[in-house]
Amino acid sequence: RKNETEKKEVFYKMNTEAARYFFRNLTLNKNVREYLYRRGISEKTIRHFGLGYSENSWDSLLKYLKAMNFKQDHIIENGLALKSKEGRVYDRFRNRLMFPVFDARGRVIGFGGRVLDDSKPKYLNSPETPIFHKGTNLYGLNFALKAGKERQYIIVEGYMDLISLHQAGITNVVASLGTALTKVQARLLRRYCEEILISYDADTAGQAATLRGLEILREEGFDVKVIKVPDGKDPDDYVRKHGEEGFRNIASSALPLIDYRLENAKGNLSMSQEEDRIAYARRATEILKELDPIEKDVYIRKVSEDSGISENALMDMLKGGKGREQQEPE
Ligand code: GTP
Ligand code: MN
Ligand code: MN
Ligand code: MN
Ligand code: MN
Repeated sequence: RKNETEKKEVFYKMNTEAARYFFRNLTLNKNVREYLYRRGISEKTIRHFGLGYSENSWDSLLKYLKAMNFKQDHIIENGLALKSKEGRVYDRFRNRLMFPVFDARGRVIGFGGRVLDDSKPKYLNSPETPIFHKGTNLYGLNFALKAGKERQYIIVEGYMDLISLHQAGITNVVASLGTALTKVQARLLRRYCEEILISYDADTAGQAATLRGLEILREEGFDVKVIKVPDGKDPDDYVRKHGEEGFRNIASSALPLIDYRLENAKGNLSMSQEEDRIAYARRATEILKELDPIEKDVYIRKVSEDSGISENALMDMLKGGKGREQQEPE
């Protein structure tokens, strides 16, 4: 037990040293700094988020950490180096833009690394280690908390989304990293607020993740809305082009959970086509079923106006009309 705690302390220290090392590499590398400037990231933002660069070398970090008396086995267990089948030990992160990942208390628990061209995988993250657990942390929470208490937080997918928004002055943001928001992440956020705006990418993966994320957040008792980023963009692209005000505008017209679900159910169905209106009404009643009576009242009217199907017919459907499964008596 005591050994485990001591080991974790060593790992936090090692990560801090690695982050400093990557940061120094970045200040020395004009190309990578220019990559960031091209993406609109300022010097101040680079410092704020401790961004860095892992050199194009097999073992520069490994050598550096060993010279600081970190044990090779620890460096491997902490995810900074790998051992090949032949027993060769080498740096995990090579020639990548580096993002230190902090926990809520601001300790460096791991790293994400982005390629500087189109090679794959685009992002590489630290593996599971004694201090880094996938899906239990939210990137940027420490920065959001430091910026001040907020009633509402915005969840985005990626490192760059969060960093760009923060730089634009929108600091109540956290990133789920990758697409699937977990229950543990939702609970972590529940300690700090009750209202969430989801702002995932406009692509298919992002929209599927939005639906799953909505479910999880609702289960944790959040009041959730969805920001739809126009033109197939992500929040980073959008805020860079339209600025703080532009993003605040789309945030202020975020769709409430039910409206988002209904819109999603409508998809490409055309409300001037008979079959499509019927299909939409059927899908919509599946969604309305879960609502409380007051919400039902409001949304039945909405769906009716939208689909041209009468409120009575929708009500009948909800009560389990013809062709539907028998429902429990109320
Ligand atoms: P940029 O292209 O730099 O703007 O990054 P992005 O954040 O827009 O990337 P994308 O929308 O493709 O992915 C969103 C987030 O998912 C990223 O920030 C990463 O955290 C994660 N992610 C994306 N690609 C990969 C990958 O290949 N592997 C892993 N492990 N995570 C990824
Ligand atoms: Mn774990
Ligand atoms: Mn995406
Ligand atoms: Mn993206
Ligand atoms: Mn992006």
